[in-house]
Amino acid sequence: MKRTLVWAHRGASGYAPENTLEAFHKAIELKADGIELDVQMTKDGALVIIHDETVNRVSDRRGWVKDFTLEEIKTLNVNKKFPEYGVVKIPTLEEVYMLMKESGLLINVEIKSGIIFYDNIEEKVLDLTKQMGLEDKVIYSSFNHYSVMKLSELKPTVETAFLYEDGYIDMPEYALRHGVKALHPALYNLQYPNFIKECREKNILLRPWTVNEPEYMKMVCENNLEGMITNYPDIGLKIAEEQRSNI
Ligand code: G3P
Ligand code: CA
Repeated sequence: MKRTLVWAHRGASGYAPENTLEAFHKAIELKADGIELDVQMTKDGALVIIHDETVNRVSDRRGWVKDFTLEEIKTLNVNKKFPEYGVVKIPTLEEVYMLMKESGLLINVEIKSGIIFYDNIEEKVLDLTKQMGLEDKVIYSSFNHYSVMKLSELKPTVETAFLYEDGYIDMPEYALRHGVKALHPALYNLQYPNFIKECREKNILLRPWTVNEPEYMKMVCENNLEGMITNYPDIGLKIAEEQRSNI
């Protein structure tokens, strides 16, 4: 019996600065099944890993990611919460891929293209994934469903997922109609009557986020969902393993 896979949200971001090599390294150390990360693009076209369109929340500076060059953005410290890590830098997607390659973990690349329409970000990400030999390890997602469709048009064999929040109607049917085999809903969307059942019937894979409380981790595992995206992969793994041994 397959258990629910546990993916570390922005890396093991409950234990290290989010979306950094430190957080991804921690996810490997905690034996997560995969990681999730957020890709944006600098002024000079570098793919960088940071959640927001600006650097304001996580760094010691202010401004839009799109207005920094890679060299400039690399001077920022993105560690505000974990003093034990000292100064921590924004990684590029290539640096993360290099770190992850040996580990064999799955990589959920979330393309952050909903607010800034970064020029050809989908092509660039696909090219890099291919160049690094990671095509069988990467699953793409985005809140911008045009981006998800563009990825499949550019490369029909890619694995994709629609991200969404807050009560959309008919999501399983919508995913099926667009040939997308997974949904990554905000956790609370699982409550809609018959939602999980309908996804099961339509063979839509489900990986909710952000599943941080043990109570909800247990619920996700009891429903045999394909994955959970969590800041605390160690706790998720313990619960997923317990659930498997109870079957
Ligand atoms: O990919 C799951 C989750 O990361 C989506 O939300 O805002 O954390 O990027 P957000
Ligand atoms: Ca994300």
